[in-house]
Amino acid sequence: MDARVGALLLAQLLVQIEVGRQALQDEELLLPGPCGQRSIPTRIVGGKDTELGRWPWQASLRLWGSHHCGGSLLNRRWVLSAAHCFEKNNDPYEWTAQFGELSAMPSIWNLQAYYNRYQVEQIFLSHGYMGGSSSDIALLKLSTSVNYNKYIQPICVLANNYEFENRTDCWVTGWGDIKEDQGLPSPYILQEVEVGIINTTMCNHLFSLPSFRHDIWGDMVCAGDPQGDKDACFGDSGGPLACEKKGVWYQIGIVSWGVGCGRPNRPGVYTNVSSHYEWIRMVMVKNSIHRPDLSPPLLLLPLLWAPPFLLLA
Ligand SMILES: *[C@@H]1O[C@H](CO)[C@@H](O)[C@H](O)[C@H]1NC(C)=O
Ligand SMILES: *[C@@H]1O[C@H](CO)[C@@H](O)[C@H](O)[C@H]1NC(C)=O
Ligand SMILES: *[C@@H]1O[C@H](CO)[C@@H](O)[C@H](O)[C@H]1NC(C)=O
Repeated sequence: MDARVGALLLAQLLVQIEVGRQALQDEELLLPGPCGQRSIPTRIVGGKDTELGRWPWQASLRLWGSHHCGGSLLNRRWVLSAAHCFEKNNDPYEWTAQFGELSAMPSIWNLQAYYNRYQVEQIFLSHGYMGGSSSDIALLKLSTSVNYNKYIQPICVLANNYEFENRTDCWVTGWGDIKEDQGLPSPYILQEVEVGIINTTMCNHLFSLPSFRHDIWGDMVCAGDPQGDKDACFGDSGGPLACEKKGVWYQIGIVSWGVGCGRPNRPGVYTNVSSHYEWIRMVMVKNSIHRPDLSPPLLLLPLLWAPPFLLLA
């Protein structure tokens, strides 16, 4: 075997390793890896401000750099949010996602906050979304992979979440207004509220009580407290409604809409994530594998043409 053949074999081997490595990364994007874990010990928070690391999947979705909606990290490249957040601004280049920060308005000296901002590459809205409240779900693909740490972790989603239908101890998080006409005061710290899942029968009943009526359809989940006072509010949109089971956190809903905030008999309405599980999976599968710049034939050609000494250098 002469040097030239040896070099060619080596080139092929290198290509195979590179292709294999890429396939592994693609697979990691699709398979539910470890998710829903938080390493910050749970302690009861006195006020409503949360602690860094309690909700490590929480994203601040930023339009031209300013907080606009919430979101949640599903894996290194994908963020889940609500479709209505992108109704007016659907150009991905206008959006960034910030993770691992308590404040929606970090100081300009906080370099870490800028380091933890990721450019959005593509925005996918559910085809069922018609501007109303049904199918209010969106997926964002980030241009680069998110670096995980203690404060940045993905949350799990389930194909079926019926077992959570009677839970009274779920949580909604966001930077929205704290009351109907009161914005979050400086320093804009992430808020958390404990809520109960309200079944569809009960939710329809609550919404049909006084003068006007909304119907709660199939892909919605209601949560809150029939007494009012515990609710998501404007600006929380797109953020997660999450419940824990055996130490693992699952996203049950996406903050979608409500009537005012925290009014009696007006629970918050969330998009049921499980109803869209198949859509989430399909969008990720179709848009994660083999980006054109990585296709093996294109990689192979320059290597085959290169003189052997370059390959061995
Ligand atoms: C969400 O939708 C799934 C599938 O459509 C359903 O089985 C489940 O009960 C719903 N979850 C809640 C909390 O209503
Ligand atoms: C939720 O409560 C209803 C009524 O009490 C009950 O029929 C149902 O089985 C419960 N669901 C789960 C998953 O425990
Ligand atoms: C729905 O919730 C109400 C109030 O919590 C409860 O009385 C009722 O049994 C529940 N219905 C179902 C089908 O789970």
